[in-house]
Amino acid sequence: MRTLITEDQIKRRVQELGALISEDYAGRPLTVLGVLTGSIILLADLIRATTVPLRVALISASSYGGTRTTPGELHINSSLVPDLTDRHVLVLDDIFDTGRTMQGLLQTLQGHSPASLRTAVLLWKSDRTEVSFSPDYYGFRIPDEFVVGYGLDYDDEFRQLPFIGVLEEADKRGQEAG
Ligand code: IMP
Ligand code: MG
Repeated sequence: MRTLITEDQIKRRVQELGALISEDYAGRPLTVLGVLTGSIILLADLIRATTVPLRVALISASSYGGTRTTPGELHINSSLVPDLTDRHVLVLDDIFDTGRTMQGLLQTLQGHSPASLRTAVLLWKSDRTEVSFSPDYYGFRIPDEFVVGYGLDYDDEFRQLPFIGVLEEADKRGQEAG
């Protein structure tokens, strides 16, 4: 596997994002809404890099019917989402690829009457964006390559890697063998 972003680079960037978010949301009731499952590592690190009061909540988004690397129909489960009325909601995901997932989440969340709705991701594959908006906060813009680690998966594995790696054919074969 080839390292695209090192553990140190991620740490530094997450600290910067935490500082920026703390500044922007000072004095406003903030709810950081993590998207399961890919955001969990970023969520844990980012909230500890902030210095403002906030609440943490979770929502689930997944694609069905696609292949391992291309999305299918988006399914959103908001059964874990608390009352967001008048809260400033920051939706946090691992990656903004086509942007379809984030678009679906924003549509769903509009119905929860938040005071504001913004988006944050670790990675933005900016060449692949298919929607009319981009993430409000992002850690790194990356080229169109399939990446894993720091929450991002291939076939639900590799999430625990502390860095962002580009998956190669040998990694997939190794994983399938055991
Ligand atoms: P989008 O809806 O096209 O923006 O895709 C977002 C979702 O696709 C993410 O939440 C990931 O689950 C998945 N995804 C997109 N690109 C990658 C990647 O390079 N590695 C792992 N998952 C990815
Ligand atoms: Mg995902």
